[in-house]
Amino acid sequence: MSNGFETLAIHAGQEPDPVTGAVVPPIYATSTYKQDGVGGLRGGYEYSRSANPTRTALEEALAAVEGGVRGMAFASGLAAEDTLLRTVCKPNDHVVIPNDAYGGTYRLFSKVHERWGLHYDPVPLGDLDAVAAAMTQKTKLIWVETPTNPLLGIADIAALAQLAHENDALLVVDNTFASPYLQQPLALGADVVVHSTTKYVGGHSDVVGGALIAADKGLGDELAYHQNAMGGVAGPFDAWLTLRGLKTLGVRMDRHCDNAERVVDLLLAHPRVTQVLYPGLDEHPGHEVAAKQMKRFGGMVSFRVDGGEQEAVDVCDRTKLFTLGESLGGVESLIEHPGRMTHASAAGSPLEVPGDLVRLSVGIETVDDLLADLTQALG
Ligand SMILES: Cc1ncc(COP(=O)(O)O)c(C=O)c1O
Repeated sequence: MSNGFETLAIHAGQEPDPVTGAVVPPIYATSTYKQDGVGGLRGGYEYSRSANPTRTALEEALAAVEGGVRGMAFASGLAAEDTLLRTVCKPNDHVVIPNDAYGGTYRLFSKVHERWGLHYDPVPLGDLDAVAAAMTQKTKLIWVETPTNPLLGIADIAALAQLAHENDALLVVDNTFASPYLQQPLALGADVVVHSTTKYVGGHSDVVGGALIAADKGLGDELAYHQNAMGGVAGPFDAWLTLRGLKTLGVRMDRHCDNAERVVDLLLAHPRVTQVLYPGLDEHPGHEVAAKQMKRFGGMVSFRVDGGEQEAVDVCDRTKLFTLGESLGGVESLIEHPGRMTHASAAGSPLEVPGDLVRLSVGIETVDDLLADLTQALG
């Protein structure tokens, strides 16, 4: 009998502790492990960069909720991304990336990996012909974000997986915005899922972390080898917090979606709002694909305001309940100006975002309070 998503999130990798019966996996704050004679490891543990039982619990739970064979937890989303790139790519290889990728991901390509000879092309991933045209003999990866940060663009995971595989490339999906509750990229043909678990998976804005989940054992083993060899692992305290967050992902996501839908209705009706970006809207160009591959449309909403960049900045300054801050995916609502905050590193690049754009991470507070706050901030 296969278990449902919420059951996996609460139980996978989280058997009660065999020694004490503790229902919650303990925080194993230890760097090393006593061996029963040289090479006599207990349960395979020797040194906590290689493996730690708290991290193992999180890694098994992440693999289960994404439907993968191997999960790996990292110190941040970017540490996970870097490990993936250095496992799969070498100098002179090529990667196709979204033309509205998360700014930090773009910076990793443009300022770090390019210096080591990894070439990349930003492409609108909603346009399959453009992706096909960008592929070269050296393309090792198509890197997908869907929905994208912050423009909430949608890419067709199944179609891109097929295109990648026809060209002997891998499909990587950054599933941070959707979370595994709303979208299961590996079931749609992706080879690896990336997460900033800092966001919805952790869910409480109290921990930074990242993850890779591999669809097959060979790639999973290679990634795990590099995780240990490169060392960007999640510590046991962070792994424990992230695992605690993961248990409630399903109920949180449903409330994030409920509240976001109400916020979208308010914004659509507001005279100062010139455009609402949300994949749940019929008029969103990616709506059909999103409806096919997502359970619901998520808690992230972006919008553009009449009055240009200054007005967008002023709206961000005027909210009281929506906290002005970077990051997303926590229980509390956040507001930000992507052009000057999360995506400032993309200024002057093909990934620059419009100045009149505001991004909301709609939290799970009482929705009427959120609507009242936005109403007063929009004036
Ligand atoms: C979509 C997406 N991917 C990756 C990252 C990077 O993750 P981290 O900040 O945990 O390194 C972020 C961070 O904002 C993100 O939004």
